[in-house]
Amino acid sequence: MSSETIPKTGILKPRVLITGGAGFIGSTLTRYLVSHELAEVLNIDKLTYAGNLTSLREVAEETSYQFQKLDILDTPAVSKVITDFRPTAIMHLAAESHVDRSIESPSGFIQTNILGTYHLLQIAMKYWGGLDTRAKRIFRFHHISTDEVYGSLGDSGLFTEKTAYDPHSPYAASKASSDHLVRSWHHTYGLPTLITNCTNNYGPYQFPEKLIPLVILNALERKPLPIYGTGKNVRDWLYVDDHVKALWRVLTDGQVGETYNIGGNMERSNLEVATTACDILDTLRPTFQGKSRDLITFVSDRPGHDLRYATDSTRIKQDLNWEPEESFDSGMHKTVKWYLDNDWWWAPIRSAT
Ligand SMILES: NC(=O)c1ccc[n+]([C@@H]2O[C@H](COP(=O)([O-])OP(=O)(O)OC[C@H]3O[C@@H](n4cnc5c(N)ncnc54)[C@H](O)[C@@H]3O)[C@@H](O)[C@H]2O)c1
Repeated sequence: MSSETIPKTGILKPRVLITGGAGFIGSTLTRYLVSHELAEVLNIDKLTYAGNLTSLREVAEETSYQFQKLDILDTPAVSKVITDFRPTAIMHLAAESHVDRSIESPSGFIQTNILGTYHLLQIAMKYWGGLDTRAKRIFRFHHISTDEVYGSLGDSGLFTEKTAYDPHSPYAASKASSDHLVRSWHHTYGLPTLITNCTNNYGPYQFPEKLIPLVILNALERKPLPIYGTGKNVRDWLYVDDHVKALWRVLTDGQVGETYNIGGNMERSNLEVATTACDILDTLRPTFQGKSRDLITFVSDRPGHDLRYATDSTRIKQDLNWEPEESFDSGMHKTVKWYLDNDWWWAPIRSAT
């Protein structure tokens, strides 16, 4: 272990402050770190419509897990929590994350994603500046971001870490802004930052407004399955467990100041994603009348809908030896089965929305 890396075991067990730990990726990350005894975790989350403490049911009673309901914009409270908890790392996931909502109502995206990140950087700087030399060397501020900051691709090519930013939706623009802030806090003030830009995630505990759970749950209820435009928009899909393993690899072994793209190398059109989910569902629930894929309904396209995202993950593969473990088919099978087996989690959300 180099002196620059966060110790994974021993007396100095990492103490990780996770923002947005009640969301889809944050809760998967929290469950992973706590259940594998990799870190002490303090989760701070405002519990917006997307935050759900039931996603953390299996770790809620663990001594290495704590939760505080907090808005990252509440700087005095966040500052106090950080001073008390004394994290060795901050993994910043709290965000407004749904593109459609950002088009309808961008204000919350500007507040949380841009201003929230700014305030967190300022608090982190103050905290980091007061640490002793060794703790200072170990500390990391890891910003979890998206490949949507790079804009849209044509039929070929991949986003690399050198691709110029060209965000198109208010969501993507807010994440691009926060990436720029994080990078500048490293270059200007020396804050030890890491940035990861990941492709579309899917898996258990994803809020039912997102494409894959929406298709599964609507098909279960024999409702129409809405697909934007002609369904040809392509995304590179990554199973969420693979994403959180990549995040931990970057946090523990990544080069300070560096950016890592994380992709699944699993490009699929939205139509292919929907038909795959439908066909798996029909295999697991053979009692349905008719084929689930016949419920697919094309609806007016999202304004400014980017055609294709796909990410080159060469850097994280070569430098940090990370590769996704799930194929699209295995990940989708696990996901559909999880939604079938866990209506205790999604049924209350569906009936409230
Ligand atoms: N889902 C994806 O496919 C994907 C891909 C790449 C990157 N990301 C990024 O990963 C992060 C997590 O994404 P997700 O899909 O888990 O999102 P999510 O919407 O499921 O969860 C976001 C969490 O942040 C919390 N939150 C929102 N505003 C807050 C505030 N002001 N203070 C404290 N907490 C607040 C919410 O309550 C929620 O628990 C985001 O930053 C997102 O941009 C997501």
